[in-house]
Amino acid sequence: MRLTAPPRSTSLISLLALPLPLGVLCIAYLIAVARRPEIPESAQIEDPHQWGFPKWYGQQPSPFDFSSTSVGEDEEICDHPKSILLFIDLPYDSPLIPSALTLLHTLQTANRFNVSVISTFSPTWDGQVSIRQNLQGAGCETKDWIWRVGDNSGSSDLGCEKAIWVEEGVGKPGKANVSLLSHPHHLLGKDAGYNAMKAFHGDQWELGLLTSILPAPNSPTIFYPARRVTSRKSVVYFPSRTTSPKDYPRLPWGRIWSIYSPSRRSPPKIRASEDPFSDKSAWKKFWVKEEQKLASTMRDAGVCLFEGWQNGQLDDRIAKAMLSGCIVATVPPKAHHDAFLPLILPLSRPDSVALQPKLPVHDLNHVLSTYTNPQLQRLALKAFMTARNRLVPMSRLKGVEGAVKVWEEGGRGYEFKDGFRWDCEAGEGGWCS
Ligand SMILES: *[C@@H]1O[C@H](CO)[C@@H](O)[C@H](O)[C@H]1NC(C)=O
Ligand SMILES: *[C@@H]1O[C@H](CO)[C@@H](O)[C@H](O)[C@H]1NC(C)=O
Repeated sequence: MRLTAPPRSTSLISLLALPLPLGVLCIAYLIAVARRPEIPESAQIEDPHQWGFPKWYGQQPSPFDFSSTSVGEDEEICDHPKSILLFIDLPYDSPLIPSALTLLHTLQTANRFNVSVISTFSPTWDGQVSIRQNLQGAGCETKDWIWRVGDNSGSSDLGCEKAIWVEEGVGKPGKANVSLLSHPHHLLGKDAGYNAMKAFHGDQWELGLLTSILPAPNSPTIFYPARRVTSRKSVVYFPSRTTSPKDYPRLPWGRIWSIYSPSRRSPPKIRASEDPFSDKSAWKKFWVKEEQKLASTMRDAGVCLFEGWQNGQLDDRIAKAMLSGCIVATVPPKAHHDAFLPLILPLSRPDSVALQPKLPVHDLNHVLSTYTNPQLQRLALKAFMTARNRLVPMSRLKGVEGAVKVWEEGGRGYEFKDGFRWDCEAGEGGWCS
């Protein structure tokens, strides 16, 4: 019995016939791929690990971005922009310079403002005459607002009383009509107490409006996330710029943990002929580069842990990380608690109130082990979406304009916003002691 058929002679026809169905299949496949329905954005938001990040995750505008038109306001060209003098009263190498530059850029791009800028390190500043005279030279008397960042030149009589003064980054708040404090609990601090302010600013002093506004880093030009989906289990520790490398904590062994070392260089000195705020200035380029270096590390990190994580404060570093797609591990912030708790990896507050507690290695590893990688991708995306809505320069500017409006309408005193909460356990209670 023959179980196998004898080999048949293959004809030329059948040889040619084989590629034909194959080609048809190929074309059908290509058509199917091209016609494949797009992955719905909602699926990508729910599970970016599986479906990839939505197309706006990155430098593109997202549907969740802050937009002042979303609060019912026209952004039409203003015929009568408010004139504003930005007074950057910081040392030329202050770590606050990047936020001052971001503010300047924001005011320059908002068509509701006509901004000019002056600083003690501008070549146009005259060290021989008083601050008041310098400000007058910059035309402060015809301005609607003067926005002062920092108080490096002291708190003498600054004049220019026709303008509304806005201040931030000052050690002794309350001198301006509107004082912006960097954290809401600073409103409870000793320096912001009514009697302390009166004693400091003199008998003529009147209480203005004190409030706190969320930080807003430069986004999306500098701080934006990477689109590739990577493993999330790499932790980068960011020491403060002012901490000496010999005080950096020891990291656990292995490839999971690494440390960011900020540049130890000082910015270049400003030349006499150079406008420090022009894009060509070497001083400004230095700061942009520093921020880009930080942003690029944040983009590549899975988890960001900052020196001071034990304080649970929502500051600009946290905002930068969220905008860069890095998940922040921190003791949950007291202020804005409900909004931001679901967007971080919560660490427990250390038992001792040591200034420099040990790295929360065990705690963070434990928290990380309770999340899957897809859950972590989703967390990064959610934090990014919130940050692009609440922690961007235009939303901050809108907040400050709102505070000035409150002041103009007679609002004085302490303004607590956004579900403020603070407890005495946090160590900086203000009213607790
Ligand atoms: C902005 O202010 C400058 C003076 O600082 C003035 O020359 C210019 O006309 C102003 N621009 C607008 C649009 O008002
Ligand atoms: C801002 O406050 C100061 C001090 O309280 C006051 O002298 C000044 O008139 C205020 N500015 C305006 C525009 O009212």
